[in-house]
Amino acid sequence: MFEILTRLPTDPILGLLNQYRDDTNPAKVDLGVGVYKDETGHTPILSCVKQAEQQRLTEETSKVYIGPAGAMPFNKLMTELAFGHNHPALLADRIRTVSTPGGTGALKVAADFIQRCQPGAVIWVSDPTWANHSGLFKTAGLTVKTYPYYDYDNQCIKFDAMCQTLAQATEKDVILLHACCHNPCGADLSPTQWDKLATLISQTGSLPLIDMAYQGFGHGVDEDAYGVRVMAASVNNMLLCSSCSKNFGLYRERIGACSLVASDPQQADTALSVMLYAIRCNYSMPPAHGAAIVATILANAELKNLWLEELALMRERINHNRTMLVTHLHEQKVAKDFSFIAKEKGMFSFLGINEQQVQQLKQQYGIYMVDSSRISIAGISHQNVDYLARAIAAIL
Ligand code: LMR
Repeated sequence: MFEILTRLPTDPILGLLNQYRDDTNPAKVDLGVGVYKDETGHTPILSCVKQAEQQRLTEETSKVYIGPAGAMPFNKLMTELAFGHNHPALLADRIRTVSTPGGTGALKVAADFIQRCQPGAVIWVSDPTWANHSGLFKTAGLTVKTYPYYDYDNQCIKFDAMCQTLAQATEKDVILLHACCHNPCGADLSPTQWDKLATLISQTGSLPLIDMAYQGFGHGVDEDAYGVRVMAASVNNMLLCSSCSKNFGLYRERIGACSLVASDPQQADTALSVMLYAIRCNYSMPPAHGAAIVATILANAELKNLWLEELALMRERINHNRTMLVTHLHEQKVAKDFSFIAKEKGMFSFLGINEQQVQQLKQQYGIYMVDSSRISIAGISHQNVDYLARAIAAIL
């Protein structure tokens, strides 16, 4: 059976982990995978998480199955975190949320669910988008098409072209949107653009699927959910995939959530039953540990405040790194204007250099980034920024 297989290339993002690990250059810099790092290059466990874990250790009484929907307290708290406590769709009992193994698990659940609603449906993704989106949706049987998004020459969003393309989408199509901190380009829709988009999508009747992997990494927890909230207030049906990997630093615990917004409570229950069936046929039930940590934090005012403080520190460090890199590049008197990096948000930006220059940075300087020149801003530090800026200036 296996003899028909051909070897597949290593994942373009995850493959960088091994390459970086094996590099013996003491000055090497990891700007690859999107994980938060502190000044020392370490990905710490948040104090609020440590405290919640200690509490769980004493309070947990059983490891029995939790069921395909996962943990109810987590589902409720995640719904409120994403939509806000008083969202009209929440008050109208139109939202259902399930726990999933990470944000990627949520996307897979959403994709399987869409495949049951509309087999082979067209899903429109931004050009560019997260490298794993396309493979994930195609594997679920969906048809992937792209809409214009990032203007590489002017480092902004091609909003008019985006709207023109999405105006042609039908009520059988799905539109994938990044809630905030766009991966890979870091260019986010403004509140006004979200308002326009929500009107457009409600007119076409397409299904919005919002991927929110970085809530709190852009401007703040509520600010970053603006698009989710305005969209859910404008359309009858919507899907939301959230991740707790980045904002709670729970990467390896694999915890996220998939929410559906239906037109009324009865439709929501029907849709939920279909989503639960998709989960049962996939991984049966999600892991419980990460969900319990998040629920403990969000349900406790003290822990929640601590989390918001720790999240703000991560966000501020990333924003500081953005300005620091721009300043150092400016000092190197490079011809290219990199000031856009300081304006973009979240974990990533494109440097805007070509693939050959990306390889040069890797081979000659031990500086690792995705071939598209996407850099993970958290990997920059006061220690490496000068080396990094000099290397970029040299290859330019
Ligand atoms: C990234 O884009 O680097 C992160 O979302 C990690 C991943 O799984 O690709």
